[in-house]
Order: sequence, then C-alpha cells, then structure tokens
Amino acid sequence: MSFPVVSVTTLHQHEGQTVTVRGWLYNSAGKGRILFVQLRDGTGIVQCVANRDEVGEGLFSELKHLGQESSLIVTGLVRADTRSKLGFELQMITAEVVSAATGYPITPKEHGPAFLHDHRHLWLRSRRPHAILTIRHLLVRAIRNYLDERGFILMDSPIFTPNACEGTSTLFATDYFGNPAFLSQSGQLYQEAGALAFGKTYCFGPTFRAEKSATRRHLTEFWMVEPEIAWATLDDIMDLTEDFLVEVTAYVLKHGRAHLEELDRDISVLERVQKPFPRMSYDEACVKMAELGVPVEPEDDFGSPQETVLTQQYDRPILVHRYPTAIKAFYMKADPARPERALGVDVLAPEGYGEIIGGGQREDNINVLLRKIDEHKLPIESFQWYLDLRRYGSVPHGGFGLGVERLVTWLCGIHHVRESVPFPRTLDRLTP
Ligand code: 4AD
Ligand code: MG
Repeated sequence: MSFPVVSVTTLHQHEGQTVTVRGWLYNSAGKGRILFVQLRDGTGIVQCVANRDEVGEGLFSELKHLGQESSLIVTGLVRADTRSKLGFELQMITAEVVSAATGYPITPKEHGPAFLHDHRHLWLRSRRPHAILTIRHLLVRAIRNYLDERGFILMDSPIFTPNACEGTSTLFATDYFGNPAFLSQSGQLYQEAGALAFGKTYCFGPTFRAEKSATRRHLTEFWMVEPEIAWATLDDIMDLTEDFLVEVTAYVLKHGRAHLEELDRDISVLERVQKPFPRMSYDEACVKMAELGVPVEPEDDFGSPQETVLTQQYDRPILVHRYPTAIKAFYMKADPARPERALGVDVLAPEGYGEIIGGGQREDNINVLLRKIDEHKLPIESFQWYLDLRRYGSVPHGGFGLGVERLVTWLCGIHHVRESVPFPRTLDRLTP
C-alpha cells in the first residue's frame, strides 16, 4: 500500500493521516525501545518516532546504527507535537534505507570556517547555510519583482567583453580566439545601450573582479543587479536606491522572518529600513569622519574602518554622493557646478557593513567622455560602440549596481560575504 509523499513543511495539512517523507538522517537518539530519528527533507526537519515493537527488531536495529546523512524513506502517522518547533512528528510505521552513509564529515560539533568551506557541497545541508541561501533566494525574487512591476525590461549583459568598466586593476583576462577579452566587471555599459533603446532596463548576473586582497567584503565572482534609466538624474537615482532598498528589505522580512530568526538576526535593524535615508555629500561625510577621529586623506576614497565608523552613527542605510571625480570610474558625469565632484552615489549599510550600492548619473557629452577615456588610459577602439550612444541621441541617464552578496550579508547579519553565496570564489578559493 502506498501513501502520499509529502514534504516536511506541509505536514500540518496531514494531521492524523499516514504519509511518506523522503529525506536524509540528520540525527538520531535512542532510549530503550524508542528511537528518535530526525529526518531532513530539504524543506525542514521532522522527528520520526520509531517504536521497536511496531517497526520490528530488524529495521529498528538498522535505523539505530545508520550514519548521519544516510538517505531514507519513512512512512508514518502525522501527530501533533507541541514540544517541537514544527508542531508535528511522525509515528513511524515503516522505513526504507535507500543509501547508508558512514563517516559524514560535518558533525554537530564545531568546525572551523576553512573546514566548512572545503566541504561546502555538504555544508549546504546544514541549518545556517540553508537559512542564508533561502534569504538570498527571497531577495533575488524581491529584486526581480520590484523592477518588473515598475516597467524595467530585463536585458542581460554579456559576460565576455572587450571593455574595462571598473578600472583595469581588477580584470580577469581570457583568450578569445586569439584576442584578449575580459570577464565582465559590470553590465552597466550595455544597460546604457538598453536604457536608450527601452527607456528602463536591468541586468542581473554574475560579475567578476580579480580582487587581490582578502577582506570580508570581497568576492572575485559576485552577482549584481543593475538598473539603468534614460532621462534620470543623480537625484532620481538616489530616490530609486532608497525606494528599492525599503521594498526589497520589507519583502525579505515578510517572507523570510523564520530564516532570519534561525540566524539570530536582530530584526529591529531591518524594520528600521524606512524612508528617508540620511543623505550627505562626500565633503560633508569627510567633516563628520574627522570629528569622529577617523579623518580621510584629502580627495581620497574612504577606507573600510572609516565607513564603519560613519555608518555606526546611523540606524539605517545612508547615501553619500558627489565623491571626487578623480577617484571614480571614467563614465561618471562631473557635477557641472563643481567638476572635481562626480554625480555618483554610494549606499552604505549600517552596522559597519559598508558599501552595498554604487551608481549615479553617466557622462552624456561625447567630448568629455573621449577625454576621460584617454585620462583613464582605456583603449578607445573598444569603446567606439559605447561612444555611439552619445553620437546618436544622447540624453541624461543613470543607474546603479547592487551587489547581491553584500546585501544578503547585511540582511542576515553575518560576518563574511563568502557565506552569502552557494559556492564562493575568493582570492584563495576556487574549490569546491
Ligand atoms: O561600485 P561598483 O564598482 O559599481 C559598478 O560596478 C557600477 N558599474 C554599477 C552601476 O552603476 N551599474 O559595484 C557595485 C556594487 C558595490 O556597491 C558592491 O555592492 C558590489 O557591487 N561589489 C562587490 N561585491 C562583492 N565582491 C566584490 N569584489 C565587489 N565589488 C563590488
Ligand atoms: Mg563602488
């Protein structure tokens, strides 16, 4: 006789019924004639209670000696269990061991991060990665919903590109049939073509940077969502980053609260992600940081200790705009009122998490752009297509890039960005 195969998260719909759950042995503990088998099916963990007299001596003994992460199929009666978090347990009727495992390397004891990352392909089964990656999944959905509902067209940017978008020091170069090509650092330049074709577009894909320093914020492969809008000014882009972050955070809170609680995240921090976000210019931020005892060298970028101290003064993300033109990418439009400042914005997350978004208004004047390409020592030939966007109907436009892993890291309140991605790629890690 066969019974409906159900997942752990739907057990509440089957109280009093006999069902089958397929999964993996998470843990087991015995007491005389009773064995408690924690069965993990990917959606949750249910306790299955095996009574020796009911399941028979042979099966009882097999289950008792079964190793962690053995796969098995359990059929049992769904009973309410007020002591468990799930609220239900399975009174086992029978079970079938599909594949017995021995020596599963990740045990309930504490393991160091290097060991866990070496076993990432297995570690994914544990509660913490499960919660973090579910939050990532929810965030990706929230981002897509947000942009799709507001008329942005998804227009994927290529991964192979001849263009250095974000400077030449972090390029991964590859051979493209005898010609040099780079793995994309950002899909932005192609979105500018998209915005002039469709009005509003976005890309959402992997981006690559040969980051040579090992920090808790840097990956060499990370996912970026990059909306781009024709006719947009810096103010429009700042408003968009704010509205976007409020909405996607609210979505993740609404749908992912249990996972955030699993991670012991302080939910109140996320509940405070409401408009308006504090806004300040680079120059105002520098004055503040000097007062706080972490002065910035004149015209220099902020270091992470400075960003940390600055963001700790606020209870929500902050927008810092108009950084020195000299330290920003070639495509940023200079402020007409003050050309040594660029019409760009960075969004910095609170609690010391630092930059999660970079964006702004793009240079739309072809002559200025030609000069900037030259100053940045970029090869003009490979930018001819990009210059066409200024030759044929140039308009003010802008956009931003959000690093998904940075936002997941902050939403989850975890220490290191590498835990926010299924298989992290960093300076010292290409495996698994
Ligand atoms: O500030 P960035 O370099 O901006 C751009 O790439 C623009 N072209 C985006 C645009 O306007 N369309 O990068 C944007 C974001 C950063 O704020 C950060 O969240 C993330 O990408 N990021 C990284 N995340 C993880 N590891 C790295 N090495 C990252 N570098 C940037
Ligand atoms: Mg940046």
